[in-house]
Amino acid sequence: MASPLRSRRLPRAEPVPRTGSRPRFAAPVHCRPFRAIALDSGSALGASSGPPDRTLEVPPVAAHLSVTVNGTVREADVEPRRLLVQLIREDFDLTGTHVGCDTSQCGACTVHVDGKAVKSCTMLAVQADGSDVTTIEGMASAEGLHPLQTAFWEHHGLQCGFCTPGMIMTAAALLASNPDPTDDEIRHAIAGNFCRCTGYQNIVIAIRAAAAAMRAGSTAGAAS
Ligand code: FES
Ligand code: FES
Repeated sequence: MASPLRSRRLPRAEPVPRTGSRPRFAAPVHCRPFRAIALDSGSALGASSGPPDRTLEVPPVAAHLSVTVNGTVREADVEPRRLLVQLIREDFDLTGTHVGCDTSQCGACTVHVDGKAVKSCTMLAVQADGSDVTTIEGMASAEGLHPLQTAFWEHHGLQCGFCTPGMIMTAAALLASNPDPTDDEIRHAIAGNFCRCTGYQNIVIAIRAAAAAMRAGSTAGAAS
């Protein structure tokens, strides 16, 4: 004999009564994205009779923005909901900035906006309009790697490297305001950057070494 649980049937969903040209089972118009509205208002569901109701279609909105990225002025037309990290990676093709979580947890997407370390998955592209943005691609110069890049390399501050661009951008912001941080200050600064490989110790060592190299470089530069 069949189990009573197995033979139980779920009740059928009750259809929403039709009102005017609204399709059946439809959420209120203000709850749906414009693409869904455009689809539902046509004959795709076979629910509407007569021509599609074009009054339900909402055209996408684009905002024009201008950002200086790694010293070059870049312009784009973006939807207001576009994230800064999408602008950087997908529109400007600067894929050194990574996306680990997309929810402001991991720090892999960290860039500098007007000199401040920012998680670019947390900021809208339009909020960066008129700003100066630096990504990991902008850290090296014609003379060679940035001291942080060299130190991460020499002190094994990375393994898979996924977190490294964000770590370096966060560390660079720290060293810009604190050229001689303690280990505790370094650990506090990178608390919002997750690394799943290194155990952090070599990252701290690398940042400390880069700080020393940068201080030595600025002293040598001042003396010459
Ligand atoms: S991708 Fe931005 S914080 Fe993780
Ligand atoms: S080096 Fe792999 S996540 Fe940090």
